[in-house]
Amino acid sequence: MADNPFDLLAEKYDRWYDEEGREAFAVELAALRRVVAELPHPWLEVGVGTGRFARALGIPLGVDPSAEMLKLAQARGIRTVQAVAESLPFANGEFGTVFLLTTWEFLSEPERALLEIRRILKPGGMLVNAYLDRGGKWAKLYLRKAEAGHPLFSRARFYDYNEVIRITRESGFDVVRTVSALFSGPGEDTAGDEPKEGFHPGASFVVIVGRSQTDYIRTALI
Ligand SMILES: C[S@@+](CC[C@H](N)C(=O)[O-])C[C@H]1O[C@@H](n2cnc3c(N)ncnc32)[C@H](O)[C@@H]1O
Repeated sequence: MADNPFDLLAEKYDRWYDEEGREAFAVELAALRRVVAELPHPWLEVGVGTGRFARALGIPLGVDPSAEMLKLAQARGIRTVQAVAESLPFANGEFGTVFLLTTWEFLSEPERALLEIRRILKPGGMLVNAYLDRGGKWAKLYLRKAEAGHPLFSRARFYDYNEVIRITRESGFDVVRTVSALFSGPGEDTAGDEPKEGFHPGASFVVIVGRSQTDYIRTALI
């Protein structure tokens, strides 16, 4: 799909997980592993990228607009579909759980994406949105990189927790759980950086678990 900077940087992006991002990724996975055990199947990741999280968590299917990112996800054994979150090529009610894992900040229309995700979830299905909070040290670094014209981060928008919660609720989800993780910053020691239940200011990686409301009526469309 046209003009996706992830196409140009897929291999470099993917190397981050083995190099400077190795410890941060381990902390992020620990936070996600806290919440995934009870989540209903089938599972789908939207914005699957190179499939690092999908492979580690056992998510078999992923969507992403970047063909180059998807090639690497396929090499990790993930089934892939090229599409955007705002227009998902799936029938109503196909999935038990949909994951957004550090993709929220790259969505051009997050509300539309959540409404689409809600559409493809079964009634009462689950959303796991793990995003980089703008109050955390990692987002602060990325905001500085964006100001300097970084090709990926200049396309990102970093939200704070209250904004994400508001959009999540307005899109028809009850927020049932939040886990905060990654309090250390880039280059800092992650030892003792344990995930915490609830929202804790200073966390870089925040996991919000939402349940699709069965009685939701989108008043703005009426
Ligand atoms: C920071 S990466 C995260 C990838 C993967 N979830 C991971 O954690 O490694 C963000 C991903 O979102 C994808 N993306 C960008 N815009 C999107 C959209 N509108 N819908 C779905 N995915 C999108 C990008 O192509 C990229 O693969």
